[in-house]
Amino acid sequence: MARFHSLRVAAVDRLTDDSVALTLTVPEQLREEFRHAPGQHLALRMRAGRTDAALGADRTGRSDRTGGSDGFEVRRTYSICSPAPDPHGPGPSTLRVGVRLVEGGAFSTYAMKEIGVGDELDVMTPAGRFTLDPAPGLYAGIVGGSGITPVLSIAATLLAREPSARFCLLRSDRTAASTMFLEELADLKDRFPERLQLVTVLSREEQQAGLPSGRLDRERLTGLLPSLLPVRQVAGWFLCGPFGLVQGAEQALREIGVPRSRIHEEIFHVDAAPQPAQTAAPAHSTVTARLDGRGGSWPVQDGESVLETVLRNRPDAPYACKGGVCGTCRAFLVSGEVRMDRNFALEPEETDAGYVLACQSHPVTEAVEVDFDR
Ligand code: FES
Repeated sequence: MARFHSLRVAAVDRLTDDSVALTLTVPEQLREEFRHAPGQHLALRMRAGRTDAALGADRTGRSDRTGGSDGFEVRRTYSICSPAPDPHGPGPSTLRVGVRLVEGGAFSTYAMKEIGVGDELDVMTPAGRFTLDPAPGLYAGIVGGSGITPVLSIAATLLAREPSARFCLLRSDRTAASTMFLEELADLKDRFPERLQLVTVLSREEQQAGLPSGRLDRERLTGLLPSLLPVRQVAGWFLCGPFGLVQGAEQALREIGVPRSRIHEEIFHVDAAPQPAQTAAPAHSTVTARLDGRGGSWPVQDGESVLETVLRNRPDAPYACKGGVCGTCRAFLVSGEVRMDRNFALEPEETDAGYVLACQSHPVTEAVEVDFDR
């Protein structure tokens, strides 16, 4: 069950002009709760007074702002960039996340301008299924911009834990100056020169001869990937970044014969979401939910999502972005039917197995039952 805890900021490192890494100290008694897999993320919560309303909300798909008469609450998810702890050892004593400034974004502005060493932050226990269980073999990442953050943790954990594993990372950014975690990746390359292959593509800057430049779209990737690595031998592909890049990379991989089951995706930024097909909603419907061992049934108010109905009655229901991107609100659909507006978080196997995103689900039948504990 996801829970918020207060963690102290141990370091704020500026990565680029518009990004920082926050290191958080995990007290000993919380280390098990903050044990994480490589690729998971943390939701950070900020409460702001009414006077801060001008800050606006982060405009990525991974943020949420909930209003109230006494101000508002902003939740924003940030991927953990530090390696995951060994499953047989203690939980992590620190966690590091990467934060990139989003124009007009409430939380990222706060992180860039105000958060300092010694501050306490409200941090939710780790969540997310964009993860790797380290095993021997060849793995690859295709990332854009801040999409490097979880993949840095994935690559570092894999290479440190599996002496025969290899990782090929293809990253794209605008310019060298805007590229996050340059130093961390250079260190990783120094530690594992034979097993980490690193290719950087800059879209707005010429590079040295031999290195590709320009945008990484489906056509470019279809031509580039087979020349970089033996595509069919890759055991797992990790795609992370803006919606367009992830979608183009998935299409390129499918075109060159990679099965969908080997492709893992995490979207960081959704500009224009496809409009869902509308389905008639019943005049009255009821949501029954099980959460942290306790159940309840409540009527759905006009236009509400399943999450909104549950939250009115159980404020501890898990969520972060409310945008169908982070997957924190995942629940098992026990009975009834729902229409999901959009889903950028659940893999096809999860939806096939009956999981839904509560923040995107609207009842189609008069009774819907979900289980957040499964
Ligand atoms: S809260 Fe992020 S997907 Fe529902």
